[in-house]
Amino acid sequence: MSQYFSINGGKPLAGTVTISGAKNAAVAIIPAAILAGETCVLENLPRIADVRGLKNILTGLGAAVDYTEGAAMRIDPTTIKGTDATFSEVSAMRASYYLLGAMLGTYGEVELALPGGCVIGTRPIDQHLKGMRALGAKIYLDESRNILRAQCNRLRGAEIFFDVVSVGATVNVMLAACKAEGQTVLCNVAKEPHVVDVANFLNMMGAKVKGAGTDMIRITGVPQMHGCSYSVIPDQIETGTYMIAAAATQGDVIIKNVIPTHMEAVTAKLMESGARVREGDDGYDFFLRVSMDGRPRPCNIKTMVYPGFPTDLQQPMMAYLCRAQGTSVVTENIFESRFNHAKELRRLGASIVVAKRVAKVKGVERLRGGDMSATDLRAGASLIIGALAAQGVSKVHNIGYIDRGYEDMEGKLQALGARIERVTQ
Ligand code: EPZ
Repeated sequence: MSQYFSINGGKPLAGTVTISGAKNAAVAIIPAAILAGETCVLENLPRIADVRGLKNILTGLGAAVDYTEGAAMRIDPTTIKGTDATFSEVSAMRASYYLLGAMLGTYGEVELALPGGCVIGTRPIDQHLKGMRALGAKIYLDESRNILRAQCNRLRGAEIFFDVVSVGATVNVMLAACKAEGQTVLCNVAKEPHVVDVANFLNMMGAKVKGAGTDMIRITGVPQMHGCSYSVIPDQIETGTYMIAAAATQGDVIIKNVIPTHMEAVTAKLMESGARVREGDDGYDFFLRVSMDGRPRPCNIKTMVYPGFPTDLQQPMMAYLCRAQGTSVVTENIFESRFNHAKELRRLGASIVVAKRVAKVKGVERLRGGDMSATDLRAGASLIIGALAAQGVSKVHNIGYIDRGYEDMEGKLQALGARIERVTQ
């Protein structure tokens, strides 16, 4: 049985949408709870497949995980029986690589099935391994079984300069360094909001992590950590997705439970293209209000590490620019092949020419409904935005990708007036 979204586009989105917890913080914080050695309570986790998958992985390791979607997740890692993380659920999810740092930092060893993940280019983990080796770990790769074994009786602090700015490597090595002996200094690190959120969680568990969100993170190893309660920040990428969808449909949408400073690059580009973005607070939560009349002005996008324009919103933004009044140039600087959505958007009548890391999007007046297939999580969001902006009915297949990273996307869009239905065939 497969499912697709049927979308009857051309209708402006209007109303209020509330953002869920950050996927890319949650998928690191859940494995990181192993470091506590006591029970942790995690709030505001997004109700997505990746969170359910990580719950199953921790349960598979022997942890006691009590979780009802929409409520808090309670993780007791003291019942974890061993360090074998080679079962199938592990290799099915890229973020399972965080088990490397969490289990090496807790038990001094781990056997890990190497991650899978989205098809946006090769996803090396050489920087993760560089960091673990610098902390003293021995790493054995069994390429035939796609298994990695890491071992170190006592990790020792080190100074590590990453060759490339990597969210995953920054977070993974931060996890491993929490209980390493002495001081660890990480340079040329990722500064994304979810990296800072993980560092804040580690400090709530008694770690000593300073400088997250800057170019240098200093970690002083502690002998013991402890349980805590923690609430995950709102999702920067989900926020940007709904900001772009509001503008692409010439709508007027209030997006609640956001952190506006996380959105500055996206806000700037939407305003450059002619959208209105206003910030406010209702006395409790910040919100952003995005509205748009007519077609966007063309604008050029260059994806960069934070605080630059996020690569995860390059795909949704391209769908928006397909109706611009001119040609936009989109340059993908983070991943070497993140334009699979372009050929799908062409099925709506979009005019996009891709050459390696540069896509030229020549805006057209009207997009028309078509049949499309998602190739990764954010490509799926891009196709949905294209379909919402198009006149007529579209289908978006492979929506399992969407369910991995967006909580109840069709429900949130329906509440904004979108004519979107999930169809099982
Ligand atoms: C994280 O992936 C996110 N995933 C991605 O979001 C996001 O696109 C990416 O960061 C960039 O912001 C999670 O947080 C679970 P990287 P990650 O390591 O950590 C190269 C989504 O849609 N690199 O920052 O895998 C790499 O090839 C997903 O939510 C190395 O060369 O990304 C890429 O070109 C998609 N060696 C660049 O660095 C390494 O060891 C950035 O990758 C690691 C990375």
